[in-house]
Amino acid sequence: MKLPYAEPFKIKMVEKIHRSTQEQREKWIKEAKYNLFNLKSQHVFIDLLTDSGTGAMSDKQWSAMMVGDESYAGATSFYIMKAAIKKILGFEHFLPTHQGRAAENVLFSATIKEGDVVPGNSHFDTTKGHIEFRKAKAIDCTIDEAFDTTINHPFKGNIDLDKLEKVLKKYPKEKIPMIIVTITCNSSGGQPVSVQNMKDIRQLADKYEVPIFYDSARFAENAYFIKLREEAYKNMTIKEIVHEMFKYADGMTMSSKKDAIVNMGGFIAMRSKELYKKASTFNIIYEGYVTYGGMSGRDMNALAQGLDEGTDFDYLEARIKQVQYLGEKCIANGIPIQQPIGGHAIFIDAKRFLPQIPKEEYIAQTVAIELYIVGGIRGVEIGTILADRDPETRENRYPDLELVRLAIPRRTYTNNHMDYVATVMKQIFDTRHEAKKGLRILSEAPIMRHFTVELDKL
Ligand code: F0G
Repeated sequence: MKLPYAEPFKIKMVEKIHRSTQEQREKWIKEAKYNLFNLKSQHVFIDLLTDSGTGAMSDKQWSAMMVGDESYAGATSFYIMKAAIKKILGFEHFLPTHQGRAAENVLFSATIKEGDVVPGNSHFDTTKGHIEFRKAKAIDCTIDEAFDTTINHPFKGNIDLDKLEKVLKKYPKEKIPMIIVTITCNSSGGQPVSVQNMKDIRQLADKYEVPIFYDSARFAENAYFIKLREEAYKNMTIKEIVHEMFKYADGMTMSSKKDAIVNMGGFIAMRSKELYKKASTFNIIYEGYVTYGGMSGRDMNALAQGLDEGTDFDYLEARIKQVQYLGEKCIANGIPIQQPIGGHAIFIDAKRFLPQIPKEEYIAQTVAIELYIVGGIRGVEIGTILADRDPETRENRYPDLELVRLAIPRRTYTNNHMDYVATVMKQIFDTRHEAKKGLRILSEAPIMRHFTVELDKL
């Protein structure tokens, strides 16, 4: 008999979450200017805003925290983290930072200047923000299949090699400080990049003498998809695949709040000692001394343990199976979502969900607000609001995809919560024809507006 599947963990500590009425939520979201970031967390029942820093640490991570070394310089915890990075990711040098965007800030301070271009696969918004802030340009070279949510391609995070080569040919290497490969590619739906693509990118990078950095927030989930979908790697362990992936990179930035399963932390890792030295100065200015860089000793201990747990097949299987569980319920209910289902989240295709709403009325945000009002579920818009305005023309940038992301925190919710989310979504979907109007912007910041934007219902 084939035994049924069950999670490889049990629960040792619980946290109360709060129910509310639709009437209360209508009032709260109006007061929050229809910006889900402005809500108090007690006013959210199921919080799928992000999988970043919201996961549950294990008993081993908590016990590692108790023996953190809080010395300013040379802490044991720094060396524990250094050893974990060397063992799991293969990099010699590393700098701790308080989170992923801080890693970007430090690395880019040492590498990117005005007028540069940085090709990659749908750069994450903070990555793009840090590039554009330096008056450089992020060029998206993702394969076209990624922008059609109905195409079932196994590696929708892949870089289109022709698009990449065009950029590498067009600009001199002095203007291309790096290629950034985001694994998994968050902005295109938590979609993986294949090892084959990583090898091909390496070849092009060598030909044009440009370094490669991986934005590695969800590198372990990427490795899990490689094991399942790329024939050559199906018999390797996750840790072996991770080694294989990183062989083709010169360095990485990491938001440890994802696949290292901690609530706060990040780092930069690299092979070049010269770059390490250059970046160290910026780390000291922006983050802290090189052996703690914005992290406490206990957090570095938990991170090192998290890197090990996060690259365990059984853990990853439970994690990704839960995301698939919700995704499959959505598909069964006819809800248009990005396919194949991503690693950390479900991405609702809002243009197909509410085709009657024009793009000027922020379609994805309109769907996200409905989810909150009807069910107390908080997702996030990955559409026009997130895409910001063009830095030169100040016109809205309308991305190909208008998505609502429901990100699943690691080891946090049960499948009953997933059932609840699926039911609420179905209810909204079944009455979608009643929606006549979207939203308008009342005020916004000049860059990264989606955190603080204020909106009103039309
Ligand atoms: N890169 C990727 C691919 C990310 O998804 C994130 C964060 C970052 C970099 C920045 O890291 O938050 O630690 O500063 N993503 C979060 C999210 C915020 O909700 O997807 P950070």
